[in-house]
Amino acid sequence: MRHVIVFGATSAIAAEVCVRWAARGDRLHLVGRDPDKLAAVAARCGGAEVTTASGEFTDLARAEALAREGIAALDGRVDLVFVAHGDLGDQALSEHDVAEAARIVQTNFVSVLALLIPLADALERQRSGTIAVITSVAGERGRPRNYTYGAAKGALHVYLQGLRSRLWPAGVTVTTLKLGPVDTPMTATHAKNALFAAPQRVARDIDRAIARRRAVAFVPWYWRPILFVVRHTPEPLFQRLGFLSGR
Ligand SMILES: NC(=O)c1ccc[n+]([C@@H]2O[C@H](COP(=O)([O-])OP(=O)(O)OC[C@H]3O[C@@H](n4cnc5c(N)ncnc54)[C@H](OP(=O)(O)O)[C@@H]3O)[C@@H](O)[C@H]2O)c1
Repeated sequence: MRHVIVFGATSAIAAEVCVRWAARGDRLHLVGRDPDKLAAVAARCGGAEVTTASGEFTDLARAEALAREGIAALDGRVDLVFVAHGDLGDQALSEHDVAEAARIVQTNFVSVLALLIPLADALERQRSGTIAVITSVAGERGRPRNYTYGAAKGALHVYLQGLRSRLWPAGVTVTTLKLGPVDTPMTATHAKNALFAAPQRVARDIDRAIARRRAVAFVPWYWRPILFVVRHTPEPLFQRLGFLSGR
């Protein structure tokens, strides 16, 4: 039985992942900011052993405390840390309002560090375990559509790269999960196209990537070749391709 901590457990994607892990008999500690939503996810986890804790992750002291309390809730052994929270924010507002830009970076990047710093130390001391973090294909190249959020997720990619090499000698795996668009509350107002994935399919792919101890996984897989092209398109051409560089 694995001991698992999930941050942002009320996310549509994380909830699906939690249901899978509960069915497999994992012991889960679910962390989010809304106690009622957390209780609903815990109820979906059926007969598994589940504890919950809530707090606002952009309160960095609270986030750090939630991480430490999570380790204690699992009796000091953590096999898997899964970080799933995130917020697109208001891109247009963030272009002119420093507070909104800072809020987006705090939610998608800095709060993740506040959770990971105590947990990375714990897993390093333990000399085992996996840290898996959801990022986004938006972090691969800045685009007007979501570049504040993308910058925060891109910074997270670099942070996780460094953490992976730091923890490698201790036998701890760090998995970066680069998700493409998923049909969840986060994208409720977005026009859907064939590249949108369902949360259940994404949960299956995340579970698989973690089980295979992948360093970096594109979810679904087809974002790897798409992003290869997007990343390597020269700037002058990129500017002329409205579907990429436009809003
Ligand atoms: N949906 C997509 O197209 C897409 C694409 C690429 C990457 N992602 C990433 O996938 C992950 C899951 O997102 P989702 O699509 O499942 O969206 P979602 O259902 O809207 O979930 C977002 C989660 O983040 C939590 N959250 C946001 N701000 C928070 C804060 N300040 N403190 C604590 N928790 C906070 C939310 O808590 P509440 O439930 O309390 O609101 C919720 O659990 C995120 O990291 C997102 O960036 C999503």
